[in-house]
Amino acid sequence: MKIGLLGYGTVGRSVAELLTQLDCGIEVKKILRRPGKASGPLMTDSFEEILNDPEITCIAEVLSGEEPAKGYIRRALEAGKHVVTSNKAALAADFASLIELARDKDLRLLFEASCGGGMPWVEGVKKAARLDEITSVCGILNGTCNYILDRMERMNLSFEEALSQAQQLGYAEADPTADISGTDVRNKAVISLGVAFHTDITRDFPVAGIQYLTKDILDSFHARGKRLRLMLISQRRGELYALGVVPVVLDAGSYEASIRDNFNFGRLTGDIVGPLSYFGQGAGGRPTADAVIQDLISIRNGCAENAVLGRTMIYDPAVLHGTGYFPDEILPGKTLAELVALAHEKQTFLAFEPEVLEN
Ligand code: HSE
Repeated sequence: MKIGLLGYGTVGRSVAELLTQLDCGIEVKKILRRPGKASGPLMTDSFEEILNDPEITCIAEVLSGEEPAKGYIRRALEAGKHVVTSNKAALAADFASLIELARDKDLRLLFEASCGGGMPWVEGVKKAARLDEITSVCGILNGTCNYILDRMERMNLSFEEALSQAQQLGYAEADPTADISGTDVRNKAVISLGVAFHTDITRDFPVAGIQYLTKDILDSFHARGKRLRLMLISQRRGELYALGVVPVVLDAGSYEASIRDNFNFGRLTGDIVGPLSYFGQGAGGRPTADAVIQDLISIRNGCAENAVLGRTMIYDPAVLHGTGYFPDEILPGKTLAELVALAHEKQTFLAFEPEVLEN
């Protein structure tokens, strides 16, 4: 199979290198780079050149940001090419219509690398959702934030030092605001829950990041035997669901609190299978490229399945409630949506302790 690779950043380079080193029968025929950056025999700055190449049957889109990536995905599908993408911003922006387009064209649109890096999360959720009614999806889905929280906790780094290391290691987005504000996990939530619940979920759900976190705040949780992790949390009751992205208060001995460095963790609960967990490197060139190449192999082997949407579900913020921890007050018995609205209004840090998530 010959592919066109869109993007040559941290992930794109790793995809190209690994496909050259590995003998897996997939060849990069052309690489799209920004104008002025294209050098070398495979590189071009013309998307049309890739689109119009009949030998290229599949596009691997590993750019960052919504546009022009979203347009490229759409045009590739319209031109009859399968698409693999790691780009959560582009996918989340138009999730249902891109999946519908792939289905209508009888093509595959795969996106394992868009959530959880090398962790086989999306395919795990997709497979569980074929059979089970999934009642809850939770996880640590941003490697940069996990790295920051872990390094601040264990190595006493400042927020800025930890973020700078995460950037140097290739974990952060080009603009790390998306990581630390929770936007990156928000996009991963749209994708993960969409696959889990077979629905195009609301975009109007609470998102709070770690941008206002200080060492003093972290130390105050430590003193109480608690840890913080930025998490996607969700809960479903029948056709009602709620979700959010927020720093979650965890017992120091909990599994989630033990997740270190750039690692991610995802857990779903199905009505038949029960709880299922995934763990692996959630950011970085090689783990994410691994996920891209796994998708390419599935397409080449003819065993890839598209996500199935089309169910109607109702977003109800009352389904997710608990205690909000602000630097100056603790508010129990609130919905996550109420607490996040307050945190945005006050422009302050919020950590959330959910009442037990029911499965
Ligand atoms: N910036 C993202 C993260 C990359 O840190 O998780 C992987 O999606």
